[in-house]
Amino acid sequence: MAKMLEVRDLHVSYGAIKAIKGISFDVEEGEIVTLIGANGAGKTTTLHAISALQKSDAGSITFCGKDITHMEAHKIIKLGLAQVPEGRRVFAGLTVQQNLEMGAYTRVDSAAEIQKDYDKVFEWLPRLKERRRQQAGTLSGGEQQMLAIGRALMSKPRMLLLDEPSMGLSPLLVKEIFRIIREVNKSGVTVLLVEQNAKMALDIANRAYVLETGLVKMEGNADDLANNIEVRKAYLGC
Ligand SMILES: Nc1ncnc2c1ncn2[C@@H]1O[C@H](COP(=O)(O)OP(=O)(O)O)[C@@H](O)[C@H]1O
Ligand SMILES: [Mg+2]
Repeated sequence: MAKMLEVRDLHVSYGAIKAIKGISFDVEEGEIVTLIGANGAGKTTTLHAISALQKSDAGSITFCGKDITHMEAHKIIKLGLAQVPEGRRVFAGLTVQQNLEMGAYTRVDSAAEIQKDYDKVFEWLPRLKERRRQQAGTLSGGEQQMLAIGRALMSKPRMLLLDEPSMGLSPLLVKEIFRIIREVNKSGVTVLLVEQNAKMALDIANRAYVLETGLVKMEGNADDLANNIEVRKAYLGC
């Protein structure tokens, strides 16, 4: 399979704080790859560097064969890379429908193509359809997470970056969100998933990288890592 995302020797810092100290990883087309790690490991920083919300100090990021290391964020979205941010960040004062429209904002294809994606998003996330005139700020946490995913999907991404979609949700909702991620992936969208919830992430992913204080500590097949004794002790609590 073709490499869709290649990150090589990436370094990112906040002033004197070195958050990412030279990490490398790949995502192949069609995969679900997860970056797991404790709070502060550098997961969000990595996603922000990819989507250019944070400047990289060194290293390179290639998406679909294009060097995007120094590309502007809106151009990266146009290439087909969409991020679902940590903590959802929906536009609270706008309706569900308006939030989804914001996701489609950068598209230049036809209204008919965009409509097809609304239909798909509402099929995957029927709760959004029922609530499409509701203000996003009044949705539950799980519904806001669904909206954040739906909004990203409306940009018609080739690859979705998800930052801790399980955060703050009940086990039942976490299951539902992960089921949706799996379905979206099956439809052809490649997924890079960042999670503290290592159990769920390893369950859904093809491959995984373990991040610790800005470095890749381990990498491999998700099933192998889920059975690895060090990973079990540190991240799965067993
Ligand atoms: N805006 C910021 N300013 C300074 N330090 C930051 C900032 N954001 C994150 N950090 C630091 O960078 C490191 C990685 O953080 P982050 O990428 O948010 O980790 P994770 O998402 O894995 O919890 C942490 O040590 C954190 O304190
Ligand atoms: Mg984070």
